[in-house]
Amino acid sequence: MSLIEDLEQLEVRARERIASAATQDKLEEARVALLGRKGELTGLMRMMGKIAPEERPQVGRRANEVRAAVESLLGERIDEMRREAQKHRLAAEAIDVTLPGVRPLIGHQHLISQIIEEIEDVFCGIGYTVESGPQVETSYNNFTALNAPMDHPSRSARDTFYVVDNAPGTVDHPEAHAHGESDLLLRTQTSGVQIRTMLSQRPPIYMVAPGRVFRPDTADASHLPQFNQVEGLVVDHGITFGDLKGTLDHFVRAMFGEDRRTRYRPHFFPFTEPSCEIDVSCGVCHGEGCSFCKHSGWIEILGAGMVDPNVLVNCGIDPEEYSGFAFGAGVERIAALRYDLPDLRALMTGDMRFLAQF
Ligand code: PHE
Repeated sequence: MSLIEDLEQLEVRARERIASAATQDKLEEARVALLGRKGELTGLMRMMGKIAPEERPQVGRRANEVRAAVESLLGERIDEMRREAQKHRLAAEAIDVTLPGVRPLIGHQHLISQIIEEIEDVFCGIGYTVESGPQVETSYNNFTALNAPMDHPSRSARDTFYVVDNAPGTVDHPEAHAHGESDLLLRTQTSGVQIRTMLSQRPPIYMVAPGRVFRPDTADASHLPQFNQVEGLVVDHGITFGDLKGTLDHFVRAMFGEDRRTRYRPHFFPFTEPSCEIDVSCGVCHGEGCSFCKHSGWIEILGAGMVDPNVLVNCGIDPEEYSGFAFGAGVERIAALRYDLPDLRALMTGDMRFLAQF
């Protein structure tokens, strides 16, 4: 019965080989070597012809049993390997839900945007509209229509960023402007929006215009080459300096507190007559005088005045019928006064540690 014994031994070897196969490739090798067409079992079956015919059924049955046993061993082992591989994969992909998460950085409204919105709110509350104009402006809108003489020093390339490399003022007169010719510059003030608004709307006009302006200053603790202003303009029947004062007193108290006092000092602007600068009583010493207000008790906050009749005429508005006032405030300056900022340059950094404080 040596063929039966060979079959038994084959089963024992198969069991060991399958158990010790470390990879799916090794297992496949074992399957081919044991059960394949040139494998060990096939080899043994070929010897059937050499044994007595009456023994053949018994050997054949045994051979089938061995084949079935080996096949099921192979099947079990491959299942086991797949389960292990899956276990490793899951372990590798495991997420520890108890670990602290990565907190996404959340933005914060910039202090300047906050103050602009607050100023808009104050004026929208008394019926003003919010207007805007481009940062690249014609020198006509930025200067000429605002009654600035052609030789006004603020027009020089030292005080104004010109966009094209031509001599300032070369094509800047009303007729040239009417044909679309005017020097282009980065606006030095938001006052050009007064012109744009008066050219596109009829009185009554009650508007504010916040926006970015540019001047060739080197950035330091109290200067920035670009900053923000809020312009205001009122044109209506019978507007007086009293309206200007009442409006700006209201604005100053809304922004700085009801206990603040205002002071109107004569000044000059080409586009307003009379003109003034407006000071607010110092919030640190309440007007007594301290180092913050340079011992004057006052802090300058606004430029303003009654719209010069020439400006109304430039915009096709009859100064005999209408009058108005205009004002402008620096937004960074308001921010610095409110929060006692030691260095305006912090407003340009986008540093969340700074911005998130407000
Ligand atoms: N445009 C002026 C400035 O930049 C401010 C101002 C605006 C003054 C409106 C009077 C009226 O200094």
